[in-house]
Amino acid sequence: MTGMLDGKSALVTGGASGIGRAAALAFAREGAWVAVADLTLEGAQRTVAEIEAGDGKAVAIACDVTEDDAVAAMVAAAVEAFGGLDCAFNNAGIAPFQVNAAGQKIADVAPEAWARVIDVNLTGVWRCLRHEVAQMRRQGTGGAIVNTASILGLVGSPTSSAYVAAKHGVVGLTRTAAADHAEENIRVNAVCPGYIETPMTEETMRRRGGRIMARVPMGRMGTPGEIAEAVVWLCSARASFVTGVAWAVDGGYTAI
Ligand SMILES: NC(=O)c1ccc[n+]([C@@H]2O[C@H](COP(=O)([O-])OP(=O)(O)OC[C@H]3O[C@@H](n4cnc5c(N)ncnc54)[C@H](O)[C@@H]3O)[C@@H](O)[C@H]2O)c1
Repeated sequence: MTGMLDGKSALVTGGASGIGRAAALAFAREGAWVAVADLTLEGAQRTVAEIEAGDGKAVAIACDVTEDDAVAAMVAAAVEAFGGLDCAFNNAGIAPFQVNAAGQKIADVAPEAWARVIDVNLTGVWRCLRHEVAQMRRQGTGGAIVNTASILGLVGSPTSSAYVAAKHGVVGLTRTAAADHAEENIRVNAVCPGYIETPMTEETMRRRGGRIMARVPMGRMGTPGEIAEAVVWLCSARASFVTGVAWAVDGGYTAI
């Protein structure tokens, strides 16, 4: 069977867990070699082991996307492992509860909490983009990049100001990067997941899952694999004329 990404190389950040892990597995299933990056090597290695168990080819890389040198080294390591970079999924992210800002309105959010969410969720994507685009330009063969935004990159949400601002920023950054690099055939898109079953949403679902699900036309959470399908398609040649979109995969949340 041939895959959508046979012979391609792909880099995934936040690849140890949730959506990133599912995307790494989907890239491998579609025939790509996968560089799995996450904060710790052990986390990335767990996903690599799953890929290798399915006869895929993958390498694990430790990288904190808030450190520019580490991001440069991550891209260099992926290129060294696979000889080039064709696809990238900039997906690492954190939620307000991870900076002790859950349930806080704007005046209550500590400046440090605001800065950390922006640094990981928005500037982290920018750091990845700049090093990936630089590599793809050097290769001169184009490329496809997907950034993880969110439905909260398209609409607001109470008590999530830094997260919502960062994700709206990712959408704007994606559109501008798409325009900047279209002539070099580097496509840049964003995926905007709705509420997805991952460790990130466990706490939110416990607190107000009933109210959230009442707002989702499909009446359920999505799975990480359902986001991964959109990501690998956007990275494939089947999406050859698609760039600069912010694609909601959300069970209809933003349709109403
Ligand atoms: N789960 C959802 O409902 C949902 C909805 C919309 C958007 N998202 C976005 O999807 C992305 C993935 O989230 P998830 O739900 O899979 O969460 P998750 O917590 O399961 O996975 C996030 C991964 O990112 C990694 N990470 C965090 N900070 C990092 C850093 N500084 N450098 C490198 N890696 C780092 C974590 O170690 C973890 O493996 C995030 O950007 C999140 O904002 C999630």
